Amino acid sequence: MSDITMDKLVALCKNRGFVFPGSEIYGGMANSWDYGPLGVELKNNIKQAWWKKFVTSRLDMVGIDAALVMNPKVWEASGHVSNFTDPLVECKQCHERYRADQIDLKAACQKCGNKGTFTDPASFNLMVKTWIGPKEDASAVAYFRPETAQAMFVDFPQILITSRKRVPFGIAQIGKAFRNEITPGNFIFRTREFEQMEIEYFIHPSEADKHFDYWLAQQKEWLAECGVDEKRLHYVEIPEADRAHYSKRSVDTEFDYPFGQKELYGLAYRTDFDLSQHEKHSGANLKYTDPITNEKYVPHVIEPTFGVDRTLLVVLLSAYHEEAAPTGDGETETRVVLKFPKHLAPVKIAVLPLSKKDELSSVARPLAEQLAMRWRTDYDETQSIGKRYRRQDEIGTPYCVTVDFDTLNDQAVTVRDRDSMKQERVKIADLESYFASNL
Ligand code: GAP
Repeated sequence: MSDITMDKLVALCKNRGFVFPGSEIYGGMANSWDYGPLGVELKNNIKQAWWKKFVTSRLDMVGIDAALVMNPKVWEASGHVSNFTDPLVECKQCHERYRADQIDLKAACQKCGNKGTFTDPASFNLMVKTWIGPKEDASAVAYFRPETAQAMFVDFPQILITSRKRVPFGIAQIGKAFRNEITPGNFIFRTREFEQMEIEYFIHPSEADKHFDYWLAQQKEWLAECGVDEKRLHYVEIPEADRAHYSKRSVDTEFDYPFGQKELYGLAYRTDFDLSQHEKHSGANLKYTDPITNEKYVPHVIEPTFGVDRTLLVVLLSAYHEEAAPTGDGETETRVVLKFPKHLAPVKIAVLPLSKKDELSSVARPLAEQLAMRWRTDYDETQSIGKRYRRQDEIGTPYCVTVDFDTLNDQAVTVRDRDSMKQERVKIADLESYFASNL
């Protein structure tokens, strides 16, 4: 592992097309970030790996993809209208706003340096409001969902009937959530628009402890599969006063970011809070009848929640390495290499003809097109081969394939491994099976 500052990471992300400021030609839009060509591949790979691990590889899980804007009554029932707030203070001098629980109210304002200028803390609701339809009046007010979770509760009866699952089972969803954060920042760590991967796992209340422990272990296992160093992770039991309004027990997974130890994921025991609230507010029957014992009850819920953007951030921070590497003329230089787990790497293979000559590109280009049918493949014929290797290292491509003049005689190419930098000669005819077993 190498130490990396956020400035370095943000610069690399911008220069290589992982993540850059949104709407930049108009001066940007506070704390909005766009995922570029490599960022979207990395993000999709994370989401696909998550979906495969937690949904399609399991018999006890189903997925949904619900609307972003739900009936506003959902948010009254869930408690978000009255409880989803942060304490807001404003400096009376410069009007800078802060979260009261994140600063020392007796200290000077960080922006203007004045002391004793903060207003009293006021509760600020974090939900992003909008109007649905042509009339902008109270009857048209709606909210962009602040968590993906609620659709899994609201759709519970439909899913139960159509999927024929029995408790314990889970519902998963990946999608955007919106929060009017008072202090967004630290790159993609805290933004107002972000993505979540959430599971609501429905259980019998007598089994809560067992399932809670199981899902904490699953979160740890997932992070190991993402290449995140266990030594940079902390599991923090959240005291009652700091827990969300729906939670009886919460353990946060925290990570050592360059800006300090902060939350990465959450795990909450939501009890029957949500289903019971929706029963009360909607009048629908959200009970489950055990087919063996005939017991009728509102299932309890264990909720492991994973932020997509924070996952991508810790995957990048964990993959980043600076190390000594030999140059073509026998010197040593520092190379930056993103050692992603191969299944997450945005580009899997780069095909690099040694020169731009037609005789090489006429072999290399069709080869790249053929490989691209199965793996994300880059084709690059500009600059020296050394510079092209460095570029591929910096975006974390596990394999480079060099087509050289010997290829024309032996129908073989040189395959270079990103991490060991070792090279081996592989017959073109064997290349697909080589990558099928290595990727
Ligand atoms: N359904 C439960 C829930 O939403 P949360 O702790 O408020 O719990 C879950 O959010 C996860 O979503 C967090 O652990 C984090 O990974 C991510 N997250 C929350 N707020 C975020 C923000 N403003 N920007 C980026 N990610 C965020």
